[in-house]
Amino acid sequence: MKEKLSAIREEAMKQIEASDSLEKLNDVRVTFLGKKGELTSVLKSMKDVAPEDRPMVGQLVNETREAIEALLDETKTKLERAARAEQLEREVIDVTLPAKKNNVGHRHPNTIAQEEVERIFIGMGYEVMEGPEVEYDLYNFEKLNIPANHPAKDEQDTFYINKDIVLRTQTSPVQARVMEQGKLPIRMIAPGRVFRADEVDATHSPSFHQIEGLVIDKNVTFADLKGTLEVFVKELFGEATKIKFRPHHFPFTEPSAEVDVSCFKCGGKGCRFCKGEGWIEILGCGMVHPHVLEMCGIDPEEYSGFAFGVGLERIALLKYEIDDMRLLYENDARFLKQF
Ligand code: DAH
Repeated sequence: MKEKLSAIREEAMKQIEASDSLEKLNDVRVTFLGKKGELTSVLKSMKDVAPEDRPMVGQLVNETREAIEALLDETKTKLERAARAEQLEREVIDVTLPAKKNNVGHRHPNTIAQEEVERIFIGMGYEVMEGPEVEYDLYNFEKLNIPANHPAKDEQDTFYINKDIVLRTQTSPVQARVMEQGKLPIRMIAPGRVFRADEVDATHSPSFHQIEGLVIDKNVTFADLKGTLEVFVKELFGEATKIKFRPHHFPFTEPSAEVDVSCFKCGGKGCRFCKGEGWIEILGCGMVHPHVLEMCGIDPEEYSGFAFGVGLERIALLKYEIDDMRLLYENDARFLKQF
């Protein structure tokens, strides 16, 4: 028995030392210490040992087991360390290699223009508000003084969800929504997407963006509107920009005007950019119609206000001298990354 144990011990030590991987080492553990292992079978044959020898043989078995376990553990630690060192070696990063190109997107010209307009109006104490793109006919038309059979409804042909709900044709319904909230005075702009049943061409798209403006307070006059828009266009297109109001008609403002700015390319002499006019139309505006104020719960005897609506794409196209609106929607990165 004694010889057998020392033979097992010797063989185990030899095999452990020869193990060059964790898998092999584990196989050795199973061979010697496992349920069907060599040492276990010795224990099972204890019944054949004379009773007086059993304590001595038992102790010997334990010593052999401990010796094998100790060497197994030691070798395991060694092999793990070696594996880790090898992994670190393999994964070393060469910091002198050129970095991988990281393609980061950037802001769309529409977004840049919108943020610029927001910056200007926030600077004048305006709040930026929002309204729904899917809107009630009531807000998009009725409350803006455009009743069912009004010709303006035809000009702004849109997509009907049903008889009462449309894709908004303008950001003007946000005016009605904000006025109805009843918190006065109001000084807000409302940028957002609008929809019209228009064919796509260089200056039209069935979906585009506007920025609405609304100011309601006591004693607001057309002079305030003029002054505000003058500051706006000078900030946007440069200090030398001149502004011109042309009488116009919008159902929800009275009086109404369209605003032209002097061409910032030729300074007003006339060029290809302004189609020889010297002026470029940029927005519609006016004094909020008393009937609109009334419909939105504001007393026109006490309050007055002005409103304006500007096309966002128009500003982006002008500012960046882009001659076709479709380019803004094609999402061609080669085009977009120029701005
Ligand atoms: N909503 C008008 C349009 O889409 C633009 C407009 C004109 C807005 C006059 C206004 C305004 O707020 O006062 O054609």
